[in-house]
Amino acid sequence: MQKKKSRSRGRFETCPYAYKRHNYLVFRFFLVFFVSAVNFMNNSIGEVLITEAEIKQKVSELAKRLAADYEHKELTIIGVLNGSLIFLSDLIRHIPFPVKIDTIRANTYKGASAISKTETDIINNISLNIKDEHVLIVDDILDTGKTLSRIVQVIRGHNPLSIKICVLLNKEARREIEIVPDYCCFEIENKFVVGYGLDFDNKYRNLPYVAVLEDNG
Ligand code: IMP
Ligand code: MG
Repeated sequence: MQKKKSRSRGRFETCPYAYKRHNYLVFRFFLVFFVSAVNFMNNSIGEVLITEAEIKQKVSELAKRLAADYEHKELTIIGVLNGSLIFLSDLIRHIPFPVKIDTIRANTYKGASAISKTETDIINNISLNIKDEHVLIVDDILDTGKTLSRIVQVIRGHNPLSIKICVLLNKEARREIEIVPDYCCFEIENKFVVGYGLDFDNKYRNLPYVAVLEDNG
């Protein structure tokens, strides 16, 4: 019986293009893996700024304030995706009367030209009719203020009765646009934080506390 000389390249033998593409995909996989590994090694969870218990306490206090302020009013709560997800879901479960919930997604980025400022695009707008409704916008953090000021502008265009802003964290030192939250759980210093909805590279949102992200790079 004739011995097999080399491993068969199967369909690659009949299609050299498929072989090249296979190699390219393997190369891409390892490149992505390597970049992620370096990223992961360079960043780690540092000091816990706000514990799970402190968050629970503040969220329940905030819900009591909201319950008092919006009692007997038609309230629509608009969560800013993805950062507000955890905060929003905890907060609304403490509100003792029916509220409507909607979401909005925005993307703030630097404009194409060197002189252009940052721009904020609304990626997914709200779907409820909020005309003549009281609106509470909920987000994870008020940082430069660019995202929320653009969102307020967009929401105002829907002619609600009132608009208020509610954030888990306020990083006043970073503000570039004058905007003040109506409700805020915690004031924090100028540090990049993750957890309880806040991410770095789309990770760490699931941490039950808020911690500083250490840059070990
Ligand atoms: P802005 O600078 O106020 O427009 O904030 C834009 C968005 O950046 C926020 O909604 C957050 O999702 C994100 N962001 C700002 N500061 C932090 C941070 O310290 N950790 C994680 N995300 C942040
Ligand atoms: Mg956000």
